[in-house]
Amino acid sequence: MAIIAPSLLSADFLNLERDCQMINKSEAEWFHIDIMDGHFVPNISFGPMITGFIRKTTSKFCDVHLMIENPEKYVPAFQKAGADNISVHIETCSNLHQNIKQIKELGMQAGVAINPDTPVETLAPYLNEIDVVCMMSVHPGFGGQAFIETTYEKIKQLRKMIDASGSIVKIEVDGGIGIENVADIIAAGANVLVAGNSIFKSVDPIATIKKLKEF
Ligand code: DX5
Ligand code: ZN
Repeated sequence: MAIIAPSLLSADFLNLERDCQMINKSEAEWFHIDIMDGHFVPNISFGPMITGFIRKTTSKFCDVHLMIENPEKYVPAFQKAGADNISVHIETCSNLHQNIKQIKELGMQAGVAINPDTPVETLAPYLNEIDVVCMMSVHPGFGGQAFIETTYEKIKQLRKMIDASGSIVKIEVDGGIGIENVADIIAAGANVLVAGNSIFKSVDPIATIKKLKEF
């Protein structure tokens, strides 16, 4: 059974508290909070202030996905805002060991996110230092995109690498996930499923989360 992490990017921001309370009432374990800077990705979302408001609504695990350049400048602000995990992108960190160390020293879990076109092998030097790999199954920047099918092979490859290394890193898959593909994603080796549109645009989001948990 996978951890479900609804992506707040797809929430109704005029009713953000209501949507946070929906997640609280649901079987989802994590809140997934997408931060975009308009440089690393072609879209801008929100920052530490909104993250802090989201944090105030919940005691569930807050998983912050930084799609930003120079993440080290902002990690302390997201820690103060209440992040439990921060994931930074391998493509934008010139000294990723240092980024991971900074996050851990601030008392949080650390994750590394990788884009669809980045090979899984690049993660090898970090698997014993991190808690989560956030494997992008869409090109980051927008919710509501279609799941990229080549991700299955990448998940399987990463699962083998993790099992061989003896590490306990969680594989989080992010983008284009819904009832139609959740079984295959879990079978490939995923532990955490991020879902935005399939939850928030459904008629009954709590029931959708319950269904995602059934696989
Ligand atoms: C994409 C974000 C994802 C996105 C997922 O850049 O990192 O977390 O919000 O949304 P869906 O499930 O709609 O693809
Ligand atoms: Zn994300």
